[in-house]
Amino acid sequence: MTGAPVIPERKLFSPYMYWAKTQQRSRYTLATSGIQHFPLSRLPVRLDELAISGPSYYGYPPLQEALAKKNGVDPQCVVATIGTSMANFLAMAAVVAPGDDVLIESPTYELLTDAAGFLQANIHRFPRHFESGFAIDLKEVERAITPRTKLIAITNLHNPSSNFTPNETLRCLGDIARGAGARVLVDEVYLDALFEKTPRSAVHLGSEFIVTSSLTKVYGLSGLRCGWILAEPDLAQRMFRMNDLFGSIPAHTAELLSIVALHHLPEIAAWSKDILSTQTALLNSFLAAAVRIRCRPLEAGTVIFPEADFDVEAFAQYLRDQYETTVVPGHFFGAPSHFRLGIGGDTEMFREGLRRLDEGIRRFG
Ligand SMILES: Cc1ncc(COP(=O)(O)O)c(C=O)c1O
Repeated sequence: MTGAPVIPERKLFSPYMYWAKTQQRSRYTLATSGIQHFPLSRLPVRLDELAISGPSYYGYPPLQEALAKKNGVDPQCVVATIGTSMANFLAMAAVVAPGDDVLIESPTYELLTDAAGFLQANIHRFPRHFESGFAIDLKEVERAITPRTKLIAITNLHNPSSNFTPNETLRCLGDIARGAGARVLVDEVYLDALFEKTPRSAVHLGSEFIVTSSLTKVYGLSGLRCGWILAEPDLAQRMFRMNDLFGSIPAHTAELLSIVALHHLPEIAAWSKDILSTQTALLNSFLAAAVRIRCRPLEAGTVIFPEADFDVEAFAQYLRDQYETTVVPGHFFGAPSHFRLGIGGDTEMFREGLRRLDEGIRRFG
């Protein structure tokens, strides 16, 4: 995974995103990575409180304030974006030029490598090992960093394993990055799944940190596309200016709804925590009795990444055809002997999906 850089072919699409949009759904979908949609009717808002357009130029001030408050930063450090997806792209594009080295965890969320490839960076990887529960091994980072590395990119919680990286490790990662003149991008879209144990955002650890997140995964509000970047003010301005090339101005109605959601985040979190704790218990009893796969129990988060002793690609197809159940094949994360399994959908659907998965594994090949 380390060694010679992979010179990117300029790929103008994401294979994972195409799969997720066209193949992920089935009667029993275990391929999701976030909580089900929060019911719109439960957002305490009246239609006459909304508006189609408003003064959203370089950030709509009330949304900037709400995001700054949630993250304990100055509004000047916040860049509101269309989901974490646009956040990751803008964050990378603002600090990476063609030919720069970018160091990305492996396995990871495929869009991080796709975005870096699109920006014509030289992509290096550092492994996160299954045996350690996918914890970040700083020695692997030190081995893989180069004098040309401009960005180290990680996810916390880790997608696909939900491993949590604590602040002590992040601080050391920051030191390594600083030594090389690089920044650290931490995608925190799953971090709030720690609920009351959620630490402060990594952006507080130093100016080399850039953080991205959204209300998608933990709050069931993907449709609002309420994402953000946290970075030092100059960099934040650069990202806002760059966003003029893409979305220019955001959907104002969604901004207004996002502000309402941000003001009611504790209630939404309680709803989400309830669903996730029920399903975490179901998932962990499934894992305790499962055959032919290896995986630690889920402590917090919405996904796990078991290793299988069978052909995962063929199994995923079999599971879909015979059991109307989907999981994400591990090759999308660069780990073909694994698959990703997610919690957070409808609980009865999840329970039956697990039963089918278990039966499928026992009968397969
Ligand atoms: C690590 C990670 N970042 C970002 C995203 C996209 O998030 P959003 O819906 O906020 O764009 C995902 C979605 O799967 C993800 O897993």
